[in-house]
Amino acid sequence: MRKACIVLPTYNEAENIEILIPKIFRAVEKLNNWEVHILVVDSLSPDKTAEIVKKLMKKYPRLHLLVTAKEGLGKAYIKGFNEAIRTINPYLFFEMDADLSHDPAVLPNFFKQIELGADFVIGSRYIKGGSIPKDWGFHRKIFSFLGNMIVRLGFMKLKITDWTSGYRAIKSWLIKSVFDHIKNYSGYVFQIALLDQAIKRQAIIKETPISFQNRKKGVSKINFSQYIFQVLIYVFLNSSFIKYVIVGFIGFFIDFALSYTMIEKLHFKKESFWLVTAISAEMAIISNFILNNYWSFSYKKLENKVSTFIISFLKFNFVSLGALIIQAFGIQILTNFFGPQYWYIYKVLIIGLIIIPYSYTLYNKFIWKNK
Ligand code: GDD
Ligand code: MN
Repeated sequence: MRKACIVLPTYNEAENIEILIPKIFRAVEKLNNWEVHILVVDSLSPDKTAEIVKKLMKKYPRLHLLVTAKEGLGKAYIKGFNEAIRTINPYLFFEMDADLSHDPAVLPNFFKQIELGADFVIGSRYIKGGSIPKDWGFHRKIFSFLGNMIVRLGFMKLKITDWTSGYRAIKSWLIKSVFDHIKNYSGYVFQIALLDQAIKRQAIIKETPISFQNRKKGVSKINFSQYIFQVLIYVFLNSSFIKYVIVGFIGFFIDFALSYTMIEKLHFKKESFWLVTAISAEMAIISNFILNNYWSFSYKKLENKVSTFIISFLKFNFVSLGALIIQAFGIQILTNFFGPQYWYIYKVLIIGLIIIPYSYTLYNKFIWKNK
């Protein structure tokens, strides 16, 4: 029998928690392989949520309560995980809203995915079978969709459809291994940081559909503009894709500056322009290789072995050569079709639409490998 612990953060959820807790225990009753506990993490709710939990604890021996200061959703989860690891030591954790937005009836689907090998299961509103409330206004829909899109594109992880969902199952070892990275995110952005770090630890991520319900009692505690701002900052600072694009720009400037210096300042003869070009391009390639290894893909940087470095650097040059060939042919083909006057548009299009995804994919497949 494995232990699972559902962490329920609450701030003024007295009316909801009373209904939710019996529902959860009923939903997991038939699971033979799991001993399910609930830990309510209450931030000193003035509506006496904790009193109701204490009352229910008499009936449910696997119901636990942790009372903390009000420091945001992320902090509540961090403290909850810590406490549960110390006292219950579960194999699996759940995150779940306590306002009845997340239906406990689908809990067995999460367990099933875990039993099939997933490390992290996301309850998604955006895959087949999932849904958002029909009465969400246009703004809220657009907001939620765009927010998710920004994160999906920023991290180039399009397969994950619901980055911001708060209904998830996560294996305990994973929580422990990312703990130091996530413990400083106190607000709702914590959810995104946790998922991002899990991906960077090569966790197996799966999604299961959920139908998100509007809360009927109490009010939401999210501050949307602050949330969006924190998400944007997080993505910008932690996306290897964005860093990779920045590295590409740096490479371009190195290439250009070196050629410029050698031609304009050092007065290299025109017969050696090929050499000037080759030297500057190779310097840019070296810079790209180093910056990508120690910055963009630092979480999966190359093994510290000379042979690994040499082989990877050769592969890197090979990919760069491919990029050069694609660009050369692409520009020529477009020029033949649409005329030479738009050459710079062709260049931007080819780099943006072909070279950037091409190199990024090959780096991830062959140099800084994903599982
Ligand atoms: N202990 C504690 N401390 N609990 C909190 C705090 C806090 O500071 N802030 C919020 N909570 C609890 C709420 O009581 C609720 O059970 C749960 O966290 C979710 O909070 P809501 O206020 O209902 O959030 P929401 O419905 O607006 O936000 C939804 O979208 C977010 C972003 O997509 C939720 O699904 C979140 O989980 C999700 O991250
Ligand atoms: Mn809610």
